[in-house]
Amino acid sequence: MLNFATHNFIRAMHTSSGQFFWRSPSNIAIIKYWGKHGRQLPRNPSISLTLSASFTDMALEYAPRETSGEGIELDFLFHDEPNEAFRAKILAFLESLTPVFPFLPELSLRIRSGNSFPHSAGIASSASSMSALALCLCSLEDALLGTLGDPEAFDRKASEIARLGSGSACRSIYPYAAVWGATPDVPGASDEYAVPAEDYLHPLFKSLHNDILIVSAGEKAVSSRAGHALMEGNPYAEPRYDQARRRLRRLLDVLRAGDLPEFGKIAEDEALTLHALMMCSDPSYMLMEPNSLEMIKRIRQYRADTGHPLCFTLDAGPNIHLLYPEEIIHEVRAFIDEQLKPLCANEWVIGDWVGEGPEEM
Ligand code: DP6
Repeated sequence: MLNFATHNFIRAMHTSSGQFFWRSPSNIAIIKYWGKHGRQLPRNPSISLTLSASFTDMALEYAPRETSGEGIELDFLFHDEPNEAFRAKILAFLESLTPVFPFLPELSLRIRSGNSFPHSAGIASSASSMSALALCLCSLEDALLGTLGDPEAFDRKASEIARLGSGSACRSIYPYAAVWGATPDVPGASDEYAVPAEDYLHPLFKSLHNDILIVSAGEKAVSSRAGHALMEGNPYAEPRYDQARRRLRRLLDVLRAGDLPEFGKIAEDEALTLHALMMCSDPSYMLMEPNSLEMIKRIRQYRADTGHPLCFTLDAGPNIHLLYPEEIIHEVRAFIDEQLKPLCANEWVIGDWVGEGPEEM
């Protein structure tokens, strides 16, 4: 006998077509995910702030498939242009998901996607794009099967699917902040999906700025994927994973207390640890550029001179993320214009800030 979900599925398959549209932001990790195992499982828990201005818009259109064939039928446009490299990547990911979404081969799919930030900015787009795709797929499942009506179940599945596309993407599903990776310090935290962490934030972190200073817009010499893999032979890997767990515990207290100087210390220690791990991988590599280091020196000097609580972090690339509270925006923007912009590629700075997470449009 057909169960309710299967029955719905067969009926929906023959009748429905439609589309979903999601806008999903990037995120910036404060405690970094660096090292993974199995199918995209993290070696340590991480926590990130959800961003606003750096996002992916994605529309997923679906209709019953007219011609039967092998695999998934997918048409893909990036900024209104066909993009075979992206299409192939998304297709391979969707095919890997057919055990989870068995209806995919029965449909004709069309994805239109675009980023708010230029593709050439050297900003990783995998967190925003994979979270947008995961959200579209969960909306599709819910439309066809009616299985994800509970918002918590919806977000959890979207986070899990996003993780399979790119680890850090699983944290973009939630407003303000998210924790990914099992830790006794966050009840309900899991290696399989991220959980919301808004409740751990003092209000000042909910309006924190994160300006991205573009040091280099070029393609990275070593991908994050390859970087994670190199952690497997890194002699510092185990102590690093312990350190990340301890720092996460400490950071949760600091976030609650609204202690910006201590937040800055942890954020900077994490960023430099991440890059130190790259330097002592075998083979060793570096993603920071001379101007990344010069900016770090100037940020530290400015903080020492003014006492303003600004700090930096980096992801796996040369660009500097400058974090600071809303109340010192005018001072910090003047500092950026005078001392940091001249060090940026084409004086390129992307203003971003902590935000409310994905939006269905
Ligand atoms: C340094 O999520 O890009 O930004 O899972 O292989 O897609 P994959 O890696 P990815 O790694 C992100 C690394 C990081 C730290 C972080 O975001 O936690």
